[in-house]
Amino acid sequence: QRDFLIAPSILSADFARLGEEVEDVLASGADIVHFDVMDNHFVPNLTIGPMICEALRKHGITAPIDAHLMVKPVDRLIGDFIDAGADYITFHPEGSDHIDRSLQLIRDGGVKSGLVFNPATPLSYLDHVMDKVDMILLMSVNPGFGGQAFIPAALAKLREARRRIDASGYPIRLEVDGGVKVDNIAEIARAGADTFVAGSAIFKAGQDADPHRYDSVLRDF
Ligand code: DX5
Ligand code: ZN
Repeated sequence: QRDFLIAPSILSADFARLGEEVEDVLASGADIVHFDVMDNHFVPNLTIGPMICEALRKHGITAPIDAHLMVKPVDRLIGDFIDAGADYITFHPEGSDHIDRSLQLIRDGGVKSGLVFNPATPLSYLDHVMDKVDMILLMSVNPGFGGQAFIPAALAKLREARRRIDASGYPIRLEVDGGVKVDNIAEIARAGADTFVAGSAIFKAGQDADPHRYDSVLRDF
């Protein structure tokens, strides 16, 4: 039995009241905060940056923040997210000219490092850096937007990533991102994932001010 973590993606939260949204999902049982950074270059959308991460810390959020950097080039933002209080920083290999260096930059800042794989990006990018990653994030949608459908081929890729992790002997988390719902999460867990990002499936549960509005949805997860 693995220890499973639920990571709500704040991409689908109400940004006008982000602090409360994050407090409320954490109070309802979420484990870590998935923070989607998009640059309108690597992906066709523009979201939030290190200032917002820092603002969540100043607001009093102490839960781990999992910064998913969909940006190119990635290196300069790594330092900014270390300073802003991220606990995990993950990036796409296509966003870095020197993947080993970028991973090392993250770890040198005392932060957990991770590589993210788009649906068609091969896991062979891991071949020479398994000792430098704390997290592997498999995209089960093409990045850029919440609310897309889970791509079924991600299940076989999760099994392959799980084999690589187990063979390595390193305590690497296996995260999945995109189209995760209450009705497919068990199958995704059986394929080997232990950390589950869910955006629309969690935050679509109403935008009223009841601080317990996410209790039932997180209980189902
Ligand atoms: C997509 C982001 C995801 C997104 C997932 O590019 O990386 O984290 O918020 O949203 P859902 O869970 O709605 O597919
Ligand atoms: Zn993400």
